[in-house]
Amino acid sequence: MHTYKIATVAALGAAAVTTASSLADLCTVSNVQSALPSNGTLLGINLLPSTVTASALYNQSSGTGSSGTYNYCNVTVSYTHTGKGDAVVLKYAFPSPSDFENRFYVAGGGGFSLSTDATGGLEYGAAGGATDAGYDAFETSYDDVVLYGNGSLNWDATYMFSYQALGEMTKVGKEISKGFYGLSSDEKIYTYFEGCSDGGREGMSQVQRWGEEYDGVIAGAPAFRFAQQQVTHVFPATVEKTQGYYPPPCELQKIVNATIAACDPLDGRTDGVVSRSDLCKLNFNLSSIIGEHYYCAAETSSSLGFGFSKRQAAGSTTSYQPAQNGTVTAQGVAIAQAVYDGLHNSAGERAYLSWQIAASLDDADTEYNNDTESWGLEIPSTGGEYVTKFVELLDLDNLSNLDNVTYDTLVDWMNTAIVRYLDSLQTTLPDLTPFQSTGGKLLHYHGESDPSIPTASSVHYWQSVRSIMYNDLTDEESLAALEDWYQFYLIPGAAHCGTNTLQPGPYPENNMNIMIDWVENGVKPTRLNTTVSSGQYEGETQMLCQWPTRPLWHGNSSNFECVNDQKSYDSWMYTFPAFKLPVY
Ligand SMILES: *[C@@H]1O[C@H](CO)[C@@H](O)[C@H](O)[C@H]1NC(C)=O
Ligand SMILES: *[C@@H]1O[C@H](CO)[C@@H](O)[C@H](O)[C@H]1NC(C)=O
Ligand SMILES: *[C@@H]1O[C@H](CO)[C@@H](O)[C@H](O)[C@H]1NC(C)=O
Ligand SMILES: *[C@@H]1O[C@H](CO)[C@@H](O)[C@H](O)[C@H]1NC(C)=O
Ligand SMILES: *[C@@H]1O[C@H](CO)[C@@H](O)[C@H](O)[C@H]1NC(C)=O
Ligand SMILES: *[C@@H]1O[C@H](CO)[C@@H](O)[C@H](O)[C@H]1NC(C)=O
Ligand SMILES: *[C@@H]1O[C@H](CO)[C@@H](O)[C@H](O)[C@H]1NC(C)=O
Ligand SMILES: *[C@@H]1O[C@H](CO)[C@@H](O)[C@H](O)[C@H]1NC(C)=O
Ligand SMILES: *[C@@H]1O[C@H](CO)[C@@H](O)[C@H](O)[C@H]1NC(C)=O
Ligand SMILES: *[C@@H]1O[C@H](CO)[C@@H](O)[C@H](O)[C@H]1NC(C)=O
Ligand SMILES: *[C@@H]1O[C@H](CO)[C@@H](O)[C@H](O)[C@H]1NC(C)=O
Ligand SMILES: *[C@@H]1O[C@H](CO)[C@@H](O)[C@H](O)[C@H]1NC(C)=O
Repeated sequence: MHTYKIATVAALGAAAVTTASSLADLCTVSNVQSALPSNGTLLGINLLPSTVTASALYNQSSGTGSSGTYNYCNVTVSYTHTGKGDAVVLKYAFPSPSDFENRFYVAGGGGFSLSTDATGGLEYGAAGGATDAGYDAFETSYDDVVLYGNGSLNWDATYMFSYQALGEMTKVGKEISKGFYGLSSDEKIYTYFEGCSDGGREGMSQVQRWGEEYDGVIAGAPAFRFAQQQVTHVFPATVEKTQGYYPPPCELQKIVNATIAACDPLDGRTDGVVSRSDLCKLNFNLSSIIGEHYYCAAETSSSLGFGFSKRQAAGSTTSYQPAQNGTVTAQGVAIAQAVYDGLHNSAGERAYLSWQIAASLDDADTEYNNDTESWGLEIPSTGGEYVTKFVELLDLDNLSNLDNVTYDTLVDWMNTAIVRYLDSLQTTLPDLTPFQSTGGKLLHYHGESDPSIPTASSVHYWQSVRSIMYNDLTDEESLAALEDWYQFYLIPGAAHCGTNTLQPGPYPENNMNIMIDWVENGVKPTRLNTTVSSGQYEGETQMLCQWPTRPLWHGNSSNFECVNDQKSYDSWMYTFPAFKLPVY
């Protein structure tokens, strides 16, 4: 049970009058209004007291699927930027004073959406918040407002989505929290961020731009290096068009399945999981799959992962597929190999990295044409829409074709977007000194078989931070310095921000508790606690190896070592000579 100073009493300067307040006592419009930071105290942010709403809610479930029920104060308030005349709506959830543990929690969103839910911190005794970012983000996806019209980019929405809205929501939310509970201004509020995919990018944006505001950030599979990442979604289709072969989806699935089967034992345990995609890359030749038989029954299916735009149906398109019965061709393997090799320009210079071998090839899915009874081009809208709206500045939801599109075109698109969004969406600033020097802790993870955001994309950023911040240290010293506050883990076999139906591997389920222990109790993790969620090893705890060490199992037992393997490590290292700018 905590006791709290009543804000107004403390403000009068009365000596340490403490009273146990109830939620109903604190959850009033006037208490929230008196907790608002005054104009001029947070540069450029003017809270609007007249917009405050506050209502106590009891026995509510949180929006995040945790099992408990919670009592909290539901607060909304708007602010404007000095001189701008805009309005940004914030919502906050303040737990009962008896549950509040001096924490503030921010959740990441996904796709082109910020989180709309402020209740994710309740299970940790944390206040939490969400922002409409000034473009009605509770209802609208950023890609739906990014253009005012053809050629006319909405920079306000772009900066707000990129990093600004979350930073402001957090900074304001911590101030209101102190006033709301009557804490003194120098009292610590432990501040956490947790997100995956674009939520991971959002977390990285906060580490990079608002580092002093956060104590612990958990970032999964961040969708950063945004220009390269988004254009890469149309890379597989470009490979197919360039090579003139549109494989039946079943053929690619077979290639992936056969790769998993072949590479599973390379890590020392045959458990259906490719825990060492690096050994697979170094030792397995996809050509050995040529001639293997595949069969998939006819189906009406939806494909292409999650829809990025709220205008498009969630989970994207439905399509009919006939039964597919054949053998893996040399052309099919050539497509898979080129996709895994990653984008190079016509001079053979590398432009980007790719998904790890054994990751499924979702973006390479082709579309069946009932009339011609053949497979043909399908452009994933994740990439197609990015090119039309963000690169070409045309208000279209998808590219209609890839006519005249070559690998060099993709590189040009990336270059255009890198330059245009370098200080907003790109989100790859590698100097994290403000975050690190104020004690921030970063837990970064990525599924090793992520089919949407290449795993090596995260490795590259980790390496950029290490080399930019610790350039003067030896390898060993820089590793030691970094892992004190920035730890990175690959999740064997995992897909995009979740488990993988093709590989029954482990997944972290306890990240926030690990982070709280690290931040508040100084318990620095050395491995990452995960649980296998299906298959023959369901329920097994795996304490994952911290990058750059790699797992190596012993004879199918449940024990693995974390080894240093230079050849494996090198297989994850990339340079991008197709770009003149440094790529962090
Ligand atoms: C702060 O500024 C806003 C407009 O920017 C105004 O509406 C509000 O009344 C001001 N608050 C105070 C306490 O002056
Ligand atoms: C919340 O649930 C508890 C336990 O079921 C009950 O005692 C209490 O009356 C409920 N409160 C409200 C406001 O519904
Ligand atoms: C919180 O308050 C806002 C503003 O009154 C309201 O729109 C919203 O529905 C409330 N949330 C819940 C969960 O009741
Ligand atoms: C934007 O450009 C596209 C492609 O040229 C065109 O189809 C569309 O009608 C244009 N929209 C507007 C509002 O002009
Ligand atoms: C690939 O493996 C998955 C999971 O075991 C299975 O459901 C699917 O039918 C397989 N596909 C092919 C083409 O072998
Ligand atoms: C894979 O095997 C094929 C056919 O044997 C060969 O042409 C190719 O060079 C091999 N690839 C690698 C990377 O060794
Ligand atoms: C697939 O094709 C092979 C050879 O053409 C044939 O023997 C087999 O019966 C077919 N399988 C199915 C399920 O149609
Ligand atoms: C394609 O053809 C199949 C078989 O003739 C039919 O069942 C299906 O409805 C057709 N799909 C579309 C989208 O026309
Ligand atoms: C995008 O356009 C391509 C080409 O017209 C089409 O194949 C694909 O299904 C479209 N994707 C979506 C999600 O609409
Ligand atoms: C593609 O290139 C050809 C030849 O340069 C040109 O005639 C055609 O208009 C181009 N098509 C598109 C869609 O740009
Ligand atoms: C791992 O996390 C689980 C909860 O997911 C917990 O029960 C277990 O004690 C943790 N194990 C270790 C070694 O930290
Ligand atoms: C591990 O298990 C697989 C099949 O489950 C078996 O083929 C293999 O021989 C075993 N390896 C060792 C080293 O026991």
